[in-house]
Amino acid sequence: MLIEGNNLSVAIDGREIVADESVRCAPGEMTALVGPSGSGKTTLLHALGLLLPVSRGHILVDGKDVTSYDGGQRRRFWRDHAAFVLQDYGIVDDESVGFNVTMRGQRRATNADARLSAALEQTGLAGRAGETASHLSGGEKQRLALARAIYRRASVLFVDEPTASLDARNRHTVIELFTGFARQGATVVVSTHDEEMIAACDSRHPMGMREVQTVTTATGRR
Ligand SMILES: Nc1ncnc2c1ncn2[C@@H]1O[C@H](COP(=O)(O)OP(=O)(O)OP(=O)(O)O)[C@@H](O)[C@H]1O
Ligand SMILES: [Mg+2]
Repeated sequence: MLIEGNNLSVAIDGREIVADESVRCAPGEMTALVGPSGSGKTTLLHALGLLLPVSRGHILVDGKDVTSYDGGQRRRFWRDHAAFVLQDYGIVDDESVGFNVTMRGQRRATNADARLSAALEQTGLAGRAGETASHLSGGEKQRLALARAIYRRASVLFVDEPTASLDARNRHTVIELFTGFARQGATVVVSTHDEEMIAACDSRHPMGMREVQTVTTATGRR
């Protein structure tokens, strides 16, 4: 899915936090929103994911203007297409790893579900469906959030600072997983100030620099 933001501004309490940003996030690519702390990366990411209303500009999904989607339309977009890996991981701590991937009823999900096993396998969490999510490390929680996106076959993934709290080795693993998800054809949008993550992205959007074009390096694009 192609996600485009055209001249987006977001004002909160009368203050313009995102000002006139235009960004194009293509399928099969990982796009970085980059800039110093407080430059509005997270806010723009949330706006592109329809989590936050914009005060000006337009958001297009595969060319369709979704800026004024109502609650029901936004929920359908989240349910059918989007997955989020946000700063608090969005993980239900008291529930099992399996529940967190499938978000389905049973407290102790088993490996009987082939899709669940595949998602855990891909994220290095094989065989851990029955563990309580709160026991996972920071890096494992990031991978769990990605496993959920893989399980749901999300076509768009919005990711906020996935490597912020990780050591070098876990950072590397997580970057490779997100890159791999994009290579499978997904649109990955990531807010980050991690140099290694930025380098791994196909396209970089610097915040607050209207005159600067998004820089694209074509590698392995679909
Ligand atoms: N809900 C809110 N209410 C008021 N101000 C907010 C809100 N959300 C964000 N801001 C402000 O908007 C600015 C940009 O915040 P944002 O979180 O988007 O920055 P960021 O680039 O993601 O920063 P970081 O790299 O530290 O995560 C900050 O000054 C922040 O205080
Ligand atoms: Mg942020």
